[in-house]
Amino acid sequence: MVKNGKAGAEGMKIAVAGKGGVGKTTIAGTLARILAKEREVIAIDADPAMNLRFSLGIKENPRPISELKDLIAERTGANTELGSLGVFKLNPKVDDVLANYGVRSEGITLLVMGTVRKGGGGCTCPEHAFLRALLRHIFRRSEHVVMDCEAGIEHLGRGTARGVDIMLAVVEPSMSAVETAIRIKSLSSDIGISKFAVVFNKVPENRNSLNTLVRRISEENIVGCIPYDPALLKASIEGKPPFKASPAFVEHVKALKDEICDMLR
Ligand SMILES: Nc1ncnc2c1ncn2[C@@H]1O[C@H](COP(=O)(O)OP(=O)(O)OP(=O)(O)O)[C@@H](O)[C@H]1O
Ligand SMILES: [Mg+2]
Repeated sequence: MVKNGKAGAEGMKIAVAGKGGVGKTTIAGTLARILAKEREVIAIDADPAMNLRFSLGIKENPRPISELKDLIAERTGANTELGSLGVFKLNPKVDDVLANYGVRSEGITLLVMGTVRKGGGGCTCPEHAFLRALLRHIFRRSEHVVMDCEAGIEHLGRGTARGVDIMLAVVEPSMSAVETAIRIKSLSSDIGISKFAVVFNKVPENRNSLNTLVRRISEENIVGCIPYDPALLKASIEGKPPFKASPAFVEHVKALKDEICDMLR
């Protein structure tokens, strides 16, 4: 199957993860805006902080999926006798959720996951059964998908991103961000995500200091190096989306997108 994002029958499914504050949301939103020039995009906000909309330049969030208690109970059978015993439908109907609970703006449909009860890999609460089924459905659709993950690695244990084509780890120039990315690589592979890429973000002009960090990561995994850009800080203060604030940043994310396309080809 060709997955070059232009001629492929299916869109690319990309999860963006990394340590807190490295620029996941800034990059995910901008990447979604760039991909939307090619085909429809589904942007998934999987961070309970629910701020992907700022980076996309979307005025209001849709209702978070985790708050749709009645719908989740009805679709998973949680309000039936079996449900009261903890037995839920593993394949609840979800194919209408995107249209009913997504917010669409200029080729992008934003879905917000909300806060879901925490649980280990074996968590079988109805919210998880529903969200898993919803994400499985979304990852099989023809749109591009960009998922903005929660900071850190805990979500990988819950397998939220299971089924994406590629895990993109964002790192800033710090050993701890790189260590987080290395753990993300191994945990992504554990849940069956075969492709892994790293983008350096907030990189200072003098790149010599990065050598030690770069050596910790296999070179073939590095797909981009985005400079520190003061225009982005200004934009986040003003609540302006990055794609409108910095043409230079957009160009860097376009190059990143091309590298990801190449990896998925
Ligand atoms: N290349 C860059 N240059 C300068 N500032 C940047 C750059 N990329 C992101 N930022 C800024 O860094 C801050 C954090 O970015 P962002 O919210 O995207 O990070 P995050 O990884 O999603 O954080 P969280 O872990 O809280 O979800 C924001 O103020 C953003 O504008
Ligand atoms: Mg974020």
